[in-house]
Amino acid sequence: MLLNRNALKANNVFIQLYRRNIQTKTVKRPPLGFAFDIDGVLMGGHKPLPKARNALKILNGDNQLNAKIPYILLTNGGGQTEYERAQILSSRLDTRISPSQIIQAHTVLKDYVDQYADKAVLCLGGVGDTMRKVAESYGFRKAYTTTDVLAWNSSIWPFIHVTESELASAKPVDFSRTPISAVFVCHDPRNWGVDVQIMCDVLRSGGLLEGPCVDATKQTIQVVFCNPDLLWKSDFSRPRLGQGAFKASFQAVYKMLTGSEYPYTQFGKPTKPTYDYARRVLHNLLDESYGPGKLPHMYMIGDNPESDIAGANAAEWSSVLVHTGVYDPTAGPPAHSPTHQAQDVEEAVLWAIERELAPLKEGL
Ligand code: G3P
Ligand code: MG
Repeated sequence: MLLNRNALKANNVFIQLYRRNIQTKTVKRPPLGFAFDIDGVLMGGHKPLPKARNALKILNGDNQLNAKIPYILLTNGGGQTEYERAQILSSRLDTRISPSQIIQAHTVLKDYVDQYADKAVLCLGGVGDTMRKVAESYGFRKAYTTTDVLAWNSSIWPFIHVTESELASAKPVDFSRTPISAVFVCHDPRNWGVDVQIMCDVLRSGGLLEGPCVDATKQTIQVVFCNPDLLWKSDFSRPRLGQGAFKASFQAVYKMLTGSEYPYTQFGKPTKPTYDYARRVLHNLLDESYGPGKLPHMYMIGDNPESDIAGANAAEWSSVLVHTGVYDPTAGPPAHSPTHQAQDVEEAVLWAIERELAPLKEGL
């Protein structure tokens, strides 16, 4: 992006003014903040997407402001603690990302700890006992997984062989005496068959596996789905089915068994609770750095119109839809209109910064 002479002059004046602010410690909050989606924006499976490292370098100071621009990572993914995710992403993206900057699909469950800390909850999704470890790191003291149920009685799903290592990771508990109070579908289930079976068993028997069937209209067990994505972009050439497809399968089977779908709470992008949670997290991060103040103009950078853009629009944030993930620009206009579209995350970041600086430069 070539700046003409006047723009360059204005730009230098602007940087000097901005720096002077910094030197005189009357540091004003940066004029903008970012929320980045992960899959299809920064990462393609386990590999960083081409412009991802550059984009984060720009936010870490390599920009027209010569200043750090705050950002969070807001993903419908999960399956590990925010600390583990921050470690992995920091090394793959070659920049330091703190756990407090990461909001995964199940992070919002932290708001449920008071209600369920000492109640048995079933945490579905992910591999082996990873989701129990995540739930325990949040404060849930009686978190169980599908593997725990299979270790208790593998004939609950006769089509599966529980491996030695899975049995070793299982927590011994008698589910015929341990009433489940809530089912949290935290991350994408690995074996839909066994998870649909166990969800139906828990919900139809009021939480006690092998317990008597309860009246389907008297549902007492809370069901939470943390990620509504029907599709998401990994490193395969076509988008893959996500947790939203699992939810549809579960509800179809449950309805065939009981005549109606099971009521549930939905979290994850585009839901309001998840964007409110993200706003709260970024606000706290900024207050820590700049003292109390207003949230700057927010930019959501995403690849999925249904989750990233729809959520940003509802949150009255600006949004940039990139062409490196779920959304295929050759397939027509997106279902939800972003503020702008960009080839990749670097172009998106540069566009947003220029957009925020332009009025400030014109005023000079
Ligand atoms: O399972 C993760 C997927 O649904 C989307 O992740 O990072 O694109 O929100 P993300
Ligand atoms: Mg994505």
